[in-house]
Amino acid sequence: MKNYINLSDIDDLPALLEDALHLKNHNSDPELGKGKTLGMLFFNPSLRTRLSTEKAAKLLGMEVMVMNVNNDSWALEFEDGQVMDSNKAEHIKEGAAVLSQYCDIIAVRAFPELKDKERDNAELVLNGFKKYASVPILNMESATGHPLQALTDALTIMELKKAKRPKVVLTWAPHPRALPHAVPNSFVQMMQKMDVELCIANPKGYDLNPEITKNTTISHDQKEALKNADFVYVKNWSSYENYGKVLKTDADWTFDQEKLRGTNNAKVMHCLPVRRNVVIADDVLDSENSVVIHQANNRTFAAQAVLKSILKG
Ligand code: CP
Repeated sequence: MKNYINLSDIDDLPALLEDALHLKNHNSDPELGKGKTLGMLFFNPSLRTRLSTEKAAKLLGMEVMVMNVNNDSWALEFEDGQVMDSNKAEHIKEGAAVLSQYCDIIAVRAFPELKDKERDNAELVLNGFKKYASVPILNMESATGHPLQALTDALTIMELKKAKRPKVVLTWAPHPRALPHAVPNSFVQMMQKMDVELCIANPKGYDLNPEITKNTTISHDQKEALKNADFVYVKNWSSYENYGKVLKTDADWTFDQEKLRGTNNAKVMHCLPVRRNVVIADDVLDSENSVVIHQANNRTFAAQAVLKSILKG
């Protein structure tokens, strides 16, 4: 693998998933990354991505450097041709080229502003690093995608499924703040590559980007969509059509035991962090159906498989 920027960078998904599972059970390549350095740049906060990716790199023998860009570094300019006479002190042209002198892989987390759809879809930050770095780029969640999370989710479903072709429901849930589309986008794209029956349930006004959902079933009736579900992935996102807006925080869509009873005793997934009793009720998160900690543990092995593939590539 040359970069891991989006899911199209995966050459062979079944082989990558098998390798992640193998790495989970046998840490088979502890020397592969010896003498190599992973640089991790955070424009936004993280718990799981930061620690699981750092752990994954160290399990492969890599050195890791972490920078919280907004606090620790110079503010970066990503637009070409700017007169840089305001607060931005360094251009991505120099920034990415210099980082490439110190790092063998550069990992970047940069969320969308959720103000201008076209600008966010252009992935200015991630594509700036891709264009001006001379080393591979790893997406740790960008404006429109979270491919490390999606690989984790696929691994979790692969491990826990009982049916050959499980029914997987991605259901919207309420949240007080406007959240990005990166996780649901990548989850939908990943499930489209897998042998599952996928259904998205969301209120009217919350349909995801149709270029992502394509011909995936979308239901505006959560109860109906949840029938026979083997896996329920609960996630909030802001409106795509009315870009970045919270249209309503409808508590009727909170995922609770009553909703769970309408499924096929489904495993309940969430990428975390999760707001209890807003997104998912305590009676689900504290039940045996919740696999959110199992899922979070898998972040390490998905990242390890990706880093291994980049190091070999
Ligand atoms: N799921 C996820 O990406 O978690 P963090 O935001 O804590 O990294």
